[in-house]
Amino acid sequence: MPDRSTSTPISALTDDAAALPAWHIDESVLRRTLDGGAARDWQVDVVAETGSTNADLTQACRSATWDDARAQVRVAYRQTAGRGRQGRPWQGQAGLTFSVAMPLALAPARLSGLSLAVGLAVAQALEDCGAATAVGLKWPNDLQVDGRKLAGILIESVPAGPQRLWAVIGIGLNLVRDARMEAALGRDLSGVAEVLPTFDPHRDPTRILGAVLNRLAAMREVFLAEGFAALAPAWSARDAFRNEPVRLLHDGTVVAEGLARGVDGEGHLLLETANGLEPITSGEVSLRGAPA
Ligand code: BTN
Repeated sequence: MPDRSTSTPISALTDDAAALPAWHIDESVLRRTLDGGAARDWQVDVVAETGSTNADLTQACRSATWDDARAQVRVAYRQTAGRGRQGRPWQGQAGLTFSVAMPLALAPARLSGLSLAVGLAVAQALEDCGAATAVGLKWPNDLQVDGRKLAGILIESVPAGPQRLWAVIGIGLNLVRDARMEAALGRDLSGVAEVLPTFDPHRDPTRILGAVLNRLAAMREVFLAEGFAALAPAWSARDAFRNEPVRLLHDGTVVAEGLARGVDGEGHLLLETANGLEPITSGEVSLRGAPA
C-alpha cells in the first residue's frame, strides 16, 4: 500500500503558513449534500479568514434567537487565533477548520459524553466517504490513525435559558500530514489523505465537510433522545486504547495510570487501577499510551 502520509504534497493544499489553501468549499455541492441528509436545515457560512470559528460562534450565540432545528456552521480557510483544548493554540493550515453552533434543549449536566459522540460522528463520516484505513478514537475526543492525531475537537457551551444551551463544537480535521503543524504542536499528526484511497485535495474537502455535518445532525437526534449511552457501543468499536496500558496527564504530570477498559454510558473512561475500575471524567486530563 502506498504511503499516503507523504504522497500528497503539502503544496497541493497550502503554500505557506500565512496563505489560504489552494482548495475551496464548493458551496452549491455542499448545499446539495446537506439537503439530502440530516443537516438539511443547517446554515453554513464560509469565510476566508477569522480569528477562531469557535470564538465567532460563541459570541454570536450570546445574542442569537433560539431555533431548535437550525444549527449554524462557520467554516474558515484560515484561523489566526485557533483555539485547542486546554488553552493550546490550534494551527490548521493543512486542514478543515469549522465550528457548529448546535442548539440542544438539555441541561448542562446532560452534555456528558457529547465530545465522544462528536468524535464518533466524524469517524463515521470518514467511513461514509470510503475510509480504507481504520480511524481510531482516543478518549475523550481525538481521532487518530496509527497513533497519530487526525482531528481535534473543542466544545464550548453557551447557556440559552432553562434546559437550553448552544454547544459550539469546533473541529480541526487534518487533510494531509503537515510537518509545520507537527513541529508547532510537538506531536505526530496524520491526514485524511492517508485514509481515503483516492483523496482529491480539491474536491474532497467539500465532500468530507458535508458528510461530517450530516453525521453530526444525525448524532444530535440520538443524543437528545438517549444521551451518549446509545452511542457507546459504536464508540467502543473504534476505541484506539481499549485494554491498553495508559497514563492520564494533567499539566504534563501523570495523575493516574492503569488499563483502559472502555467508556461507560456517560462517556467516562473506565480505568482499571490497583483500586479497581475508576470512572474518569474528561476535564483537563489527557490520555497517553504507557509502556506495558
Ligand atoms: C484540540 O486541541 O485537539 C482541539 C482543536 C480544535 C480546533 C478547532 S479548529 C475549528 C475550531 N475553532 C477553533 O478555534 N478551534 C476549533
